[in-house]
Amino acid sequence: MADAVEKTWSLKVNGAAVNVTAAEDTSLLMALRQDLNLKGTRIGCAQGNCGACTVLLDGRPIQSCTTPLYMVADRNVVTVEGLTSDGAPGRLQLIFLDEQAAQCGYCINGIIMTVTGLLSQTPPADRHEIVETLDERHLCRCGAQGRILRAIDRAMADQAGSQS
Ligand code: FES
Ligand code: FES
Repeated sequence: MADAVEKTWSLKVNGAAVNVTAAEDTSLLMALRQDLNLKGTRIGCAQGNCGACTVLLDGRPIQSCTTPLYMVADRNVVTVEGLTSDGAPGRLQLIFLDEQAAQCGYCINGIIMTVTGLLSQTPPADRHEIVETLDERHLCRCGAQGRILRAIDRAMADQAGSQS
């Protein structure tokens, strides 16, 4: 069987223009991890079921394992590394750390990306929408759900405070 033809794809990742040479059905997840060395985006099920691989595409949370490269050409991708500033955690990451909102932590980067996307939309998602989305799109097999919700409540209060 012939190998898939590779092409060079241009995309913007965490604000930087990058090129990736790969077959067009290569997943964004594999391009991020293998070609761009952005390992904060986790591989879980690789079938669109667990949410561990979530990144933002043009500001909206998507599962990078089921997103082929050809769909993201010339679009803006943000990974969990893109939430940091000079290597320091961003505000939502700090709140998760402070609340110890993780156990093994495998699911957390994806959850943080979804919550970031939902709180950045206009108007920001409310608590019900965030909880429903996490229920539908993310698996956490540890017992961290209570702490994750506490961190989200804090982030929402923070955001409301900074907008008032
Ligand atoms: S690794 Fe993408 S949804 Fe599970
Ligand atoms: S903290 Fe372990 S899977 Fe969520």
